[in-house]
Parts: sequence; structure tokens; C-alpha cells
Amino acid sequence: MSAGADGYVRDLDYVDVVHPRMAPVWLDYVAALQGVARPRPVDGYDYCDLGCGAGLSLNMLAASDRRGRFVGIDANARHVARAEEFRQAGGLNNVRFLADDFAAAAALDLPKFDYIALYGAMSWVGPEARRQALDFVRARLKPGGLVLVAYNVMPGSAALAPLRRFMLAASSPEQPATARIVAAREALAALKASGSQFLRDHAAATRALDAAIDGDPGYLAHEYFNAHWHLPYFAEMRADVAAIGADFVGSATIEANSARLCIPRPLRSLYDRTQGLNERELVKDMVLGRKFRLDVFARGGRHVTGDAHFGLFDGLAFALPTRSAASMPQNFRFPAGRTTLRSAVAVPLIAALAGGPVTLGELVRQPGLADHPVAEIIGELNILIAGREAQPARGPKHALGQDGDRFRFGAPLSGRTLDAFLAVDRARFVAAPALGTGLHLNATPARAGRGRLVRRCPMGGRSAETAPIGYRQ
Ligand SMILES: C[S@@+](CC[C@H](N)C(=O)[O-])C[C@H]1O[C@@H](n2cnc3c(N)ncnc32)[C@H](O)[C@@H]1O
Repeated sequence: MSAGADGYVRDLDYVDVVHPRMAPVWLDYVAALQGVARPRPVDGYDYCDLGCGAGLSLNMLAASDRRGRFVGIDANARHVARAEEFRQAGGLNNVRFLADDFAAAAALDLPKFDYIALYGAMSWVGPEARRQALDFVRARLKPGGLVLVAYNVMPGSAALAPLRRFMLAASSPEQPATARIVAAREALAALKASGSQFLRDHAAATRALDAAIDGDPGYLAHEYFNAHWHLPYFAEMRADVAAIGADFVGSATIEANSARLCIPRPLRSLYDRTQGLNERELVKDMVLGRKFRLDVFARGGRHVTGDAHFGLFDGLAFALPTRSAASMPQNFRFPAGRTTLRSAVAVPLIAALAGGPVTLGELVRQPGLADHPVAEIIGELNILIAGREAQPARGPKHALGQDGDRFRFGAPLSGRTLDAFLAVDRARFVAAPALGTGLHLNATPARAGRGRLVRRCPMGGRSAETAPIGYRQ
């Protein structure tokens, strides 16, 4: 297999995928929700995607928000060439891509960043590369800046480590990645047919096996066939990031920030009695079985409570990207169980959101909402966001001009950027300027030139968590 000196796969490219939750506005929302005050960029911002792969996510962010200046860095020159192809197709001049590894990136002439994403970049590289990536963040993240670290995690990934070993053992490192995958799939199919006790004991391994048999070879190569596979617990990743001066803010998986939404009743009292952050997150990880965490950290954020908390939402707005108010569900299923919206707040809230992106300041003055405590409005709004029905937006409708209209369900999403992205093979995403991020399009109508948004996919959910599978649907 052709791998770099660092043992990273080089002979099969990673999948083209968009991670909508990399959006600055989404990360800002996590910080606001968690009560973390920090200086927020006002006049444009700098964003770095370290280990950007083929750059579709970053191109999508750049297309969605022309105020941002984006830099993507990846050691694989073919990935960078593909990212550049997307950039040119989209006519984007606020993003650039650099073919450098983490060590070389430190010496590049780059600005300080307001946001840095390490999406998948820490899970498949060795200790030296992880240290270099974190050193880059230490040197380049502004005070108040946010870093998104998305990584494979224990205990959710526990059953996958032996499965990976089994796949590696079925082939030789000298074979090309494609041949290794063929051999690994044959071995997995035989294992499944054998009635393996290991698979019977580990449902997660069985699901991963099925996904590996059907999955995109590019994804499989990068997930399982690198020399390194790093599986930390949250506590270990938190300690590594703390060492470069950034503290845990919260999860970009919104429901994971709320005990009400993610801790089922039998565990609530244990959770409430658990004191330390590491221990509480472990309880969540045991409940949720998360294989992949999307953790947001801040350099120098300050926790605020009480009324000061509400001020943190200034500058953000909120929108319903895919639904009409009339079709909005009242019930949502979260890991903690079923949650029903409180109609006294939810009805006027949804009506206000349906008119286009609105700020919290505008929401609390709406008829029907003005008499309710702000915390209650935020609570209902957060259920809609965690339930993938509402999203943070770049600003209120009146400030967004034309961009404010482009996210509506069923609206024509035509325009240069859409056409350009659709022209590139396999693109299934479209930039949504109101939301400052990409949305997943239903492939068929998108190909016909008019986008209808896939309802469940706007902010990741299945499509981002299990990207290669969701991507192909
Ligand atoms: C699993 S991919 C994730 C890509 C992208 N962030 C995403 O989530 O779609 C990891 C990326 O890290 C890059 N990478 C691995 N080691 C690296 C290093 N030492 N320096 C820079 N990039 C590296 C790989 O080339 C690959 O594109």
C-alpha cells in the first residue's frame, strides 16, 4: 500500500463530504448556548481547516459566507488539487488550499485564526502528527477563538478496534489500498457467515462490518487502513487540548449539551450527582454510545450565567431551513426519550422563525413570546435545533438582503454557486448563505437544476455522523 512516511494512506482519496456543523455560526451557537463569553469577530473572520481532505466542506463554508477568509491545509496533494477544482468551479476567491503537512503548516505565512477545525484529523495519525496539529492550534488560534475537534472516541468505538485489526490481518501492508479493501471485505463476509460469537456479543461491530462491506472504499481506506488509529476517551482529548490553552465549551451535537435531552430518567440522579466534567461526559458517552465526538473548545472563554447569558446570543439569528410552520412536528425523540414542545411558546416561536431568520432580541418581542422568560424561549428553540428543524443563521432576514431568502424549503436554489457545485461530479450539497453553511440536497431534483432540501439532513444528523453512507443515499 502506498502510505506516507507517517503511515497515512496516500493511494486512495477520501470521500467528498460536507460537515455542516463546521460552520462558524454553528460553533458560535454552541458557545452561546453553553454560556461561554468571548470576543466575537465582527468584520470578517479567519477560518482554518487543518487536514481538510478534498475541501468540499471548506468550499461550502466559503461559498456560504463571503465575509470569511478560509484556509484549507492537507498533506495529500491530490486532495488539495481536488479542493482547488471545487474552489474554481464555485468561483470562490475567499478560500485557498495548501498542500502541506501539520509540521510544515507551522512555518507558513498565515494569519491568526478565529476558528480552526480538526475534523477527523486527529483519529488516524500518530502521536507526532497529533502533537504537530495541536502545536499549530496553539500558535495560530486567536484569544477567544474556537477549535472544533471531531474524533473517534471511546467507549463508543470499543468494538471497532478489533474489527479493524481483523481487516488489517486479512491483507498485507504491501498491497494497494484497493486490494486490501477487497481482501478485508472477503474476510468480513466470511466472519459474518461463520456466526461469530464476537459479532453476536458486539452489535456495534456487526453494524460497522455491514457498513464496511457496502461502504465507499475511500472512506474505508482512511478509516481503517492507516498505520495509526487513535481512540482516546473524552478526558484524554480534553487534557491534550487543555495543554495548548483551550478549554472545553460543549458539543456541536446540540442535544449532547442538554441532560434533559440526552440523559434518560434512570440515569438522571447519578448524572446529577456526578461532579467532574470528565466523569459527566463519560456518563453521556456511555448513554449515547458515541463513536465520534464533535467537541468545541475555546481559548480564553469566560463562563457567564444569569441574564448576561442571553447577551451571548447577540449577533446570531435563527431560521427554519426546510419546513413550513404548519408541518412542524410537536414531538421529538432524543436519547432521553420523547420531548414535546410547549405549545404556548412553541407556536408563536415557530411562526416567527417561519418568516425568515430572526434574532433572539426580535423573538422575545414577538406577540405571544413577550410574556415568557427568555430562558424558556431559548429552551424551546434549542429543542428545534437539536431536532434538526431549526438552525442558527448568519443574521436576521433584514440584514441578509438577498441571502435571507435562499434557504427556504422548495425555493429554487439556483445561482452560480449551486450550478457550479452540481457540475462537479458527485456533489450533493449546496451553499446556504443565510445559514452560513452547506445543505444536503436530494440528488435527483438537484440534478434537474432546482434544489429541494432533504428534510432530515440540513445539520448533519445521519448524513454527517455516518457521512459516507448518508452521502450516497
Ligand atoms: C479522514 S480525512 C478527513 C478530511 C476532512 N477533514 C473531512 O472530515 O472530510 C483526514 C485528512 O487528514 C490528512 N492528513 C493526514 N495526516 C496529515 C498530516 N500529517 N498533515 C496534514 N494533513 C494530514 C489526510 O490527507 C486526510 O485528508
